[in-house]
Amino acid sequence: MKQSIFEILTNEALTSSVYRMTLEGDTSAITAPGQFVNIRLEGKFLRRPISVCDWDEGKLTLVYKVVGHGTAQMAAMTHGQVLDILTGLGNGYDLTLTGENPVLVGGGVGVPPMYSLAKHLRALGKPVQVILGFNTKEEIFYEDAFKALGCTVYVTTVDGSYGIPGFVTDALKDLSYSHFCACGPEPMLKALYKASRTSGQMSFEERMGCGFGACMGCSCKTLTGNKRICKEGPVMKKEEILWD
Ligand SMILES: Cc1cc2nc3c(=O)[nH]c(=O)nc-3n(C[C@H](O)[C@H](O)[C@H](O)COP(=O)(O)OP(=O)(O)OC[C@H]3O[C@@H](n4cnc5c(N)ncnc54)[C@H](O)[C@@H]3O)c2cc1C
Ligand code: FES
Repeated sequence: MKQSIFEILTNEALTSSVYRMTLEGDTSAITAPGQFVNIRLEGKFLRRPISVCDWDEGKLTLVYKVVGHGTAQMAAMTHGQVLDILTGLGNGYDLTLTGENPVLVGGGVGVPPMYSLAKHLRALGKPVQVILGFNTKEEIFYEDAFKALGCTVYVTTVDGSYGIPGFVTDALKDLSYSHFCACGPEPMLKALYKASRTSGQMSFEERMGCGFGACMGCSCKTLTGNKRICKEGPVMKKEEILWD
């Protein structure tokens, strides 16, 4: 984990409530797709956790949805302003488990961490299938970004306004895949757990306190003992998950 100051390069709206922020700073503590950062915001006691969407040396990309005061504060920030950020948090996805033709599944703001994961898997030469799930057409983002990486992309919308009508599981049932990696709301993860026919990894975006393993506020039971979502997670293997 590393605490450092990042300077905002860009902060743009992708949809009416989802923003992409690019920042310049020390990214050396980020080691795996699926890790997250924890952002200090003026006047807020708790930092806000956001997944790493993409990173390279000195540059960080975050994609976030405005859902409350903290994310609204982020959306109002502009080029040149600075943020105090903890980087290198969480375990991230284990690429060695993904097999020959993995499928990545992102639901809503679970889509961002799938981007750097897809990028890393493509760099390994793997064909990558991606399912992006949204409620409606207006919420869709990053379809083209995944296509530009050379992924085969399926978009689902619950209201049927774009792509495959229904849920991400409606797209998954027709695919052949070696392993799945997912991030999204818990009902989506539960449905995938039941519907998937292979091993998998899922990221749990729980509410967090400290974000680096000190407060036990994110502790959960798994088949391999108690785990802190922020430290031993947020990515869990399908076979260790114990649902409430
Ligand atoms: C590991 C992880 C990765 C995440 N990645 C992303 C991402 O890439 N993009 C994105 O849009 N969102 C992501 N989230 C959710 C994001 O952290 C919350 O939406 C955000 O903290 C809400 O802050 P707020 O002040 O706007 O909302 P408020 O509701 O005002 O926040 C109040 C408090 O609740 C906490 N909180 C509220 N909702 C959540 C939530 N869903 N998860 C965790 N804490 C919450 C906040 O941290 C804060 O302490 C992630 C969460 C986790 C745990
Ligand atoms: S949030 Fe404090 S231990 Fe996980």
